[in-house]
Amino acid sequence: MSAPAFRRLLAYCRPGFEGECAQELAALDARQSGAGYARAARGSGHVEFVSDDAPALAGSWRDLVFARQLLGVLGEARDLPPKDRLSVLLPMIEGEDPADGPCRWCDAWVEAPDSDAARELAPLCRGLEAALVAALKQRKLIDRASRWRLHLCMTATDAAYVAVAERTLSAPWPGGIPRLKFPRGAPSRSTLKLEEALLVLLDEGERERWLEPGMRAVDLGASPGGWTWQLVARSLHVTAVDNGPMDAALLASGLVDHLRADGFRYRPTRPVDWLVCDMVEQPRRVAELMAHWLAEGLCRHAIFNLKLPMKKRHDEVRLCLDLVAGALAASGRRVEVRAKQLYHDREEITVYARVA
Ligand SMILES: C[S@@+](CC[C@H](N)C(=O)[O-])C[C@H]1O[C@@H](n2cnc3c(N)ncnc32)[C@H](O)[C@@H]1O
Repeated sequence: MSAPAFRRLLAYCRPGFEGECAQELAALDARQSGAGYARAARGSGHVEFVSDDAPALAGSWRDLVFARQLLGVLGEARDLPPKDRLSVLLPMIEGEDPADGPCRWCDAWVEAPDSDAARELAPLCRGLEAALVAALKQRKLIDRASRWRLHLCMTATDAAYVAVAERTLSAPWPGGIPRLKFPRGAPSRSTLKLEEALLVLLDEGERERWLEPGMRAVDLGASPGGWTWQLVARSLHVTAVDNGPMDAALLASGLVDHLRADGFRYRPTRPVDWLVCDMVEQPRRVAELMAHWLAEGLCRHAIFNLKLPMKKRHDEVRLCLDLVAGALAASGRRVEVRAKQLYHDREEITVYARVA
């Protein structure tokens, strides 16, 4: 089955970060034809990008920091009749390819962007998704082995994008948001940030290989222990560095050493497997510290949070990521960097880096 044709992309992002998301898409597009342009309303939680190279860019979800999901747009519907939206949407979905027949879908999701206005569409999305999947099954257009997933993105009760994703090149969560339950016993909500980072920035095989019981980790800015809790839950030994107090149950686990020290000055006596860092500090200072640990071989893997400034957030992110890559290149090491603004991140992003 050939790829569905599209010239427009649809990215989901955190509301308020549409500009950064659009800047990233434009930067990617500039490496191709550079003729693309973005349409984005502030606070809408989504960005539309029009480009002749849209199909080439569509698989770039993992490379984008500010996009939670990246889809190819098949069409856009307005003035949907409230009693029978599918009568308009299904003909847009059923397009025949003369060579290969109709496109079949591994699944169909009806979503709304993560904005205040669109969040109220959640009940409508649930009902419409059940009706859509039933209609597609009846037409034999659902094939679990298909590469393609169908997405309807409702932007109002009467407006929707019909979009498509290649399932291995897109976020495997509706809305691009992994729904995580707060783990019982974790000492802070920050714990969800590290859990989401491990889920989004590593794949299943990497999580198994790179997070083995008995490995050693350092947590800079660890108090009260949400990130340490995630590492201890995977049976890692953690040196938790923070002048603030650590959760008593974590300390009783026998897997945590608490050091009341400055995270910028602390260095381990021998290299560790993991460095994690959630210190609230200027992003460049944190990026420099992480680059130093990686370049000196003090850790193999690092996950760190970069708190973003109010302005020029895209530029600051690029500067910090380039700073890490540059420092590693200067030390003769190659670094692999992956970064995302996670659902549990606010005015910040989370970065995974490892010496390759
Ligand atoms: C956002 S909180 C960390 C929350 C923690 N990750 C958790 O999951 O519970 C930031 C922490 O960084 C610590 N911090 C800030 N600057 C620091 C420094 N220079 N050295 C060590 N800790 C620092 C603060 O004391 C604070 O506890």
